[in-house]
Amino acid sequence: MFNKLTVRDIDLREKRVLVRVDFNLPIDETGKIADDARIVAALPTINYIRECGGRVILMSHLGRPKGRVVERLSLKPVAKRLSELLGYEVKIIIDCLDEKVKEIISQMKEREVILLENLRFHPEETSNDPEFSKWLASLADLYVNDAFGTAHREHASTYGVTRFIPISASGFLLEREVTTLNKILTDPRRPFATILGGAKISTKIKVIKNLLGKVDILMIGGAMACIFLRAQGFAVGKSLIEEENVGVAREILSSAMEKGTPIVLPIDCIVAQEFKEESPIETVYRSKIPPEWGIVDIGHVTVDEFSKILEGAQTILWNGPVGIFEIDKFARGTEKIARILSTSKATTIIGGGDSVAAVNKFALADKMAYVSTGGGATLEFLSGRELPSIAGLTNK
Ligand code: 3PG
Repeated sequence: MFNKLTVRDIDLREKRVLVRVDFNLPIDETGKIADDARIVAALPTINYIRECGGRVILMSHLGRPKGRVVERLSLKPVAKRLSELLGYEVKIIIDCLDEKVKEIISQMKEREVILLENLRFHPEETSNDPEFSKWLASLADLYVNDAFGTAHREHASTYGVTRFIPISASGFLLEREVTTLNKILTDPRRPFATILGGAKISTKIKVIKNLLGKVDILMIGGAMACIFLRAQGFAVGKSLIEEENVGVAREILSSAMEKGTPIVLPIDCIVAQEFKEESPIETVYRSKIPPEWGIVDIGHVTVDEFSKILEGAQTILWNGPVGIFEIDKFARGTEKIARILSTSKATTIIGGGDSVAAVNKFALADKMAYVSTGGGATLEFLSGRELPSIAGLTNK
């Protein structure tokens, strides 16, 4: 149950509505946006407020400029793309602290949209400065948060502002993300299978712990699998592992046993001498990894094993690639998993970050049932933490 006010619950007519979105997008040196999914995902809320006769003041961060103006992290290319998508010119306000901002906002007509320049050009944003929060709140009548990707940050525009404005509501995207992720954590269709991968176990320990006992089966691939194999006593050659976490992996294996959640690790692996496209590769069983070689992908037997489990699942959560998918030669396992999920009849959730990058690489994003817009936020949500910017919203 989502117990926060949403845009549907509030009177938006003629109101100035301050909307936090997450327009933290990949933008290259020439200002070209590589993936506009986060802009597209925010459109339903923006359009709804406009249709209700509200005035929309958008704000976001982009990258980590550390409180300084960094031209390549300007939101200007975003304003341009947003204008194309809305069919309406969205002006950008270069300095949100300038007194003139209030005058500009007071002259906005119903349905107009403006965008404040990258909030992280001001150090007060990430330090959650109360004066900065108060200033942002003073620009509008209502606050709406639709920035799920930034929901784990306790910053001025994501949390502080909610203390100085009468009503703080959720946008459609934030509501949908929370409802979807909550549903799989509390009431999934079963069997519920999860695949976890990626490089760092340290960022996912809490997620794994929270999922044990909730999922019916947990498959592990990627560099994360190397630590678990090592914890089970296999030699993993020169695979990438965070040595200090082998003990944690051992604890997780025994806690999984206690909670009755089977953990399935790779049975065979693709190994390479170097983590480069030109490197020769071999497929070996996990007990036969040569000392000078490292794991770069799951092997064919493992792909088949994972596929069988996925075919029987009613709910699937995937977070993290199962190999070094950025290198084509090591991407086969990750591609296979992505293709299975793209045609699966199960409720399928791609849990943000690198798995989304992988899905995009194979041009399968629009074939997936649900792709979360969060990276770190999705992980923290799945780890069971109450995210601060959601907690700050007005209760229903
Ligand atoms: C993200 O892309 O994960 C969010 O926009 C948060 O960005 P941050 O990690 O720089 O706070």
